[in-house]
Amino acid sequence: MNEDWIKYAESFTSDESDVLRELREECYAHYEDKSMLSGFVQGRVLSMFSKMIRPKVVLEIGTYLGYSALCFAEGLAEGGKVITLDIQEDTNKVAREFVAKTEYKDKIEFHLGFATEIIPTLPETFDLVFIDADKPNYSNYYDLVFDKVRPGGFIIADNVLWSGKVLLDEKDENTKALHEFNQKVLADKRVSNVLLPIRDGLMIVRRD
Ligand SMILES: C[S@@+](CC[C@H](N)C(=O)[O-])C[C@H]1O[C@@H](n2cnc3c(N)ncnc32)[C@H](O)[C@@H]1O
Repeated sequence: MNEDWIKYAESFTSDESDVLRELREECYAHYEDKSMLSGFVQGRVLSMFSKMIRPKVVLEIGTYLGYSALCFAEGLAEGGKVITLDIQEDTNKVAREFVAKTEYKDKIEFHLGFATEIIPTLPETFDLVFIDADKPNYSNYYDLVFDKVRPGGFIIADNVLWSGKVLLDEKDENTKALHEFNQKVLADKRVSNVLLPIRDGLMIVRRD
């Protein structure tokens, strides 16, 4: 999308909280992996989805600095929670510090470790799952969470356009994994889906 269109879209989107802005600015100022964090508009989209779904339990695979976890928390049903998984200790510490400053501090549950090992130990049923971690595992994550998503629940996967590289004939490991994930979802008769071309591509999947 043209830069001016993006700026226009941003200017006509409800503002984020002060903590989310502080977190985003902290990331842009001090972290190399700036693009890992859901940006402003995508954050507002995730928050809006959560407000539409009103989930009791959200599972997020890939916490990073906690930005998207806080966006999902904004739409939780009464008594709901976000369970968020990551393997990186240093960024997890920062995420916990930011979350502790918010009204959602008791509603976000952090788990540190490999997501493929943690997911099978979680007893909850999920209303919404956000897949946003290592790309080669996207299809594994989909299979691991599927039976734990309630019928009518949603799986959202980030970066499914991978800066357009999914269209290239020659695909590296991450690109191949993302393209195969997209093919897997499209072929899955148990779901309906839409690939939303916002930011780096969000795959929205509904378990029918
Ligand atoms: C793109 S970032 C997540 C961004 C965050 N969801 C947001 O939008 O603000 C991906 C995160 O996945 C984590 N990650 C990578 N491989 C993982 C694994 N095998 N298990 C758990 N987390 C993993 C990384 O440490 C990183 O923090």
